Amino acid sequence: MKKLRKPKKLGLVLIGVTLIVSVFLLIMLLESWGGTTQPLPFNHKIHAENGLACEDCHPNFMEYASSGRPELEICASCHEEALTESEEEKRLMEYIQDGNEIEWVRLYRVPEDVYFSHRRHVAVGNVKCAVCHGDIGESTRPPSKVRKMSMGKCMDCHEDQEANNDCIACHR
Ligand code: HEC
Ligand code: HEC
Ligand code: HEC
Ligand code: HEC
Ligand code: HEC
Repeated sequence: MKKLRKPKKLGLVLIGVTLIVSVFLLIMLLESWGGTTQPLPFNHKIHAENGLACEDCHPNFMEYASSGRPELEICASCHEEALTESEEEKRLMEYIQDGNEIEWVRLYRVPEDVYFSHRRHVAVGNVKCAVCHGDIGESTRPPSKVRKMSMGKCMDCHEDQEANNDCIACHR
């Protein structure tokens, strides 16, 4: 009888380990699905449909390297009083009443040593936002993941458009 016990125990241990590993993998999978969560599920599409242009909320791209993200003041100019019945808007109005800036999670980012300028691309190069940012302007929910722009994507376009492809143009 003693001989039988050992394999049984081993079996239980194996099942236990498998369970723990699966739970761990499942959590990792869920996290990679969920990705980033913004403090408010901002809806780009509904604002575009109401006639807002990108620069109403991202005001800097014609003049500066960065596009800029909306300060609460911009939202407050329309949302001080309720426009909808939405729960999300109620939460926005709490931010406005309390004067708390919304800490939007940054999605697109190049590494520190890479120089990127919106002014150069949008104002000078005349590249449309969607070429690099896809259909974010038509999305009803924020993208769930931080987006990367690969070096290959930058360089392919530079090659096509005969823009500078020296390493030092981007790596300053
Ligand atoms: C009413 C204001 C508003 C308008 C209009 C608007 N945006 Fe946004 N945008 C936001 C807010 C708020 C966020 C942060 C939440 C999010 O990621 O959705 C954001 C995020 C973004 C981001 C990601 C920024 C990052 O952190 O990397 C991009 C890219 C962007 N918007 C592009 C656009 C483009 C292109 C348009 C025009 C088609 C546009 N937006 C119009 C408010 C706006
Ligand atoms: C120029 C006016 C204007 C500005 C500025 C503006 N909104 Fe809106 N917002 C609207 C309108 C119009 C609606 C849609 C009302 C409707 O559905 O009839 C709306 C709807 C919403 C809703 C509810 C719809 C939903 O379920 O998503 C939220 C939340 C919201 N806006 C957040 C924001 C945030 C955050 C900002 C600042 C980054 C902002 N808005 C800036 C006009 C504006
Ligand atoms: C040629 C590609 C390209 C184009 C065109 C472009 N972007 Fe970007 N955008 C980027 C990259 C790359 C980053 C990350 C930059 C960084 O880390 O400094 C970024 C970051 C952003 C951000 C977050 C950081 C910030 O600058 O505030 C916003 C918002 C944004 N873009 C909006 C826009 C809007 C709106 C347009 C159109 C007017 C636009 N972008 C056009 C490539 C582009
Ligand atoms: C869709 C096309 C396109 C993409 C994608 C693109 N660029 Fe550009 N880029 C241009 C054009 C066009 C110019 C030249 C604008 C002008 O006429 O000055 C330029 C110019 C530049 C310059 C100035 C170079 C110089 O010294 O003259 C830098 C730096 C730069 N881009 C960095 C980047 C980085 C970093 C990325 C990727 C994150 C990127 N670009 C993605 C089209 C693009
Ligand atoms: C048009 C812009 C551009 C040019 C030209 C360019 N790079 Fe990059 N490079 C980038 C961007 C953007 C990244 C970051 C990509 C990412 O986040 O995955 C990068 C990343 C890298 C990295 C990874 C380390 C880091 O900084 O994240 C190395 C190494 C690198 N580049 C070397 C080079 C060399 C060598 C050349 C010249 C042959 C070159 N690059 C030319 C835009 C450029």
